[in-house]
Amino acid sequence: MAGASESGEHLGRNGREVRDSLLLKNKRSQALTLATGELMNSGSAASLEMPFPVLMEAGDGPFLIDADGNRYIDFQIGFGSMLLGHRHPLVQSALLDQAANRGWQFGLHNPNQVKLADQLIKGDNCAERVIFCNSGTESTMYAIRVARAFSGKPKLGVFDGFYHGAHDYGIGAADPNSPRDAPVYQPIGAGVLPAIVENQIMLPYRSDAAFELIRQHKDDLAMVMIEGVQSSNPHEKHELTAYLQELKTVCAESDVLFMMDEVITGFRLAYGGAQEYFDVQPDLATYGKVLGGGLPIGAVGGRSDIMKLFNSMAMGDKKGIMSGGTFSGNPLTMAAGVAQTSFLDENRAEIYPRLNSMGQRLAETINQYAREQGMGVQVLNAGSMFQIYFNEGEIWSARDTGGMRSQAETDFYLHLLDNGVLIPGTRRSFISHVHTPELVDEAAEIIKKSLNLVRQDDLL
Ligand SMILES: Cc1ncc(COP(=O)(O)O)c(C=O)c1O
Repeated sequence: MAGASESGEHLGRNGREVRDSLLLKNKRSQALTLATGELMNSGSAASLEMPFPVLMEAGDGPFLIDADGNRYIDFQIGFGSMLLGHRHPLVQSALLDQAANRGWQFGLHNPNQVKLADQLIKGDNCAERVIFCNSGTESTMYAIRVARAFSGKPKLGVFDGFYHGAHDYGIGAADPNSPRDAPVYQPIGAGVLPAIVENQIMLPYRSDAAFELIRQHKDDLAMVMIEGVQSSNPHEKHELTAYLQELKTVCAESDVLFMMDEVITGFRLAYGGAQEYFDVQPDLATYGKVLGGGLPIGAVGGRSDIMKLFNSMAMGDKKGIMSGGTFSGNPLTMAAGVAQTSFLDENRAEIYPRLNSMGQRLAETINQYAREQGMGVQVLNAGSMFQIYFNEGEIWSARDTGGMRSQAETDFYLHLLDNGVLIPGTRRSFISHVHTPELVDEAAEIIKKSLNLVRQDDLL
C-alpha cells in the first residue's frame, strides 16, 4: 500500500498539512483499504498519490462523493466516458427500464444494438459498418487484426506518445535517447514479446519525418494508427488539422490503411468526433467511452470493404477474421449508449460549442494566471479534454511533457483533493455537459489556490 507520500517526509509544510487533513477526512476509505491489505492490488495508483485509495461511493452530475461523504468536482468523469455526468436521468431511466422489463444478457443481437450502430453511423465519420465489443482495448485489437487481414501486411505505425489500449500493440514509448525524428519503439513494462516490437514502427508525432517513414516502410505497413487527439498531449484544431489531413493523404498514396483511434475523442470533440472536428476521413475508426453511456463498450467502424471481413470467415473467405465476445453488444450497454448518444445527437448544436468553450476558458484562465505569477505551469486542451503540465517549455510531443511526477505536482494534486477538485492520477482530465461554466470557474479558482500553496512551499 505504500504511496509516494505515505511517509510525508518529502512534502513541503503545506503539503504535510494537506496530507494530514486528507487522512482525517478519509477515515472510512482508509479503514476499508487497510483492512484488506493488498487484496485489491491497487496501492496508491488508483488514488491520486494518497497512501490508500480514496474509495468513491456515488456520482451526482459533475460530482463524485467518496466513502466518507466528501464531495469533489469530478474531472475524471469515468475516464471521460460520462459526457452527460453521473446518473443522468435519461441514461438512468434507460438502464432501469432495460433491467426491469427486458433483461441484460441475451448473447444475440438486440434492437438497441441496431439503434446504437445507427447513432454511430449518423456522425460525420468513416463508419459504413460497425462491430461492437466491450472496451477500447478490444476495439483497437480488432482494428489491427482486420487491417492485417485486408492488407496482407504485418506492421503497424504508431506515434510517439500513443496509447491504444492495454494489449501488447496498444502500449509503447519512444526511447528518450532516440532522435526526435526517428523515435525508437520500446514496450512499456515487461511481458511483451520481441515479435511485437519488431512489428511496431514508431513515428514522430506532429513531424513530417513520419511521412517519410511511412513511405519507406509502405510494403510492410498494414496500417498507421493515431489518436484523434493524443490524451498525453492534447492540442487544438489549428495545431493538428493540417497534419492529420496530410497523414491521411500520405497513407492513401502509400497504400497503407489509416485508422483514427476515437476512443476518447469520439462523441467528445464533436458528435462525429475528431473526424468531424479536424475534417479528416480515415479508413477505420475505433470507439469506446462516451458511446456506451458509461458502461463498458468498444466499437470499430469503417469502410464496408474492410469491415465485411468481420463476417466473411464463416463463408470461407480466407481473408475473413475471427471476432467474438460473450458480452459484446450487451443489452444494458446498448440501452445506455442509445440514451446518451441520442441526447447528444439531438442537442449537438448547443452541446459541443459549450463543452469546447468551457475547456478553452479553463485553459486560458490558468495559463494567464501562471504567466502573470511566473509559475512554470501550463494547461493544454483540445475542446473539453485538458491536462496540466508542470513545465513551461513548448510541448510538442510526449517527451516534452515532464515525465515522472514532480514533488510540486504531487502536492498540487493533494491540495486540489483537499479543496474538492478531483483530477485523476493519470492527469487526463475531462469536462462534462453537466459541468456549468460557473462550476468550471470555481474549479479554476481552486486550481490557482492550490498552485499558490505549492509555491509557498518553494516547490514552484
Ligand atoms: C486512445 C485510446 N485508445 C484505447 C483506449 C482503451 O480503452 P479501454 O480503457 O476502454 O480499454 C484508451 C483508454 O483510455 C484510449 O485513450
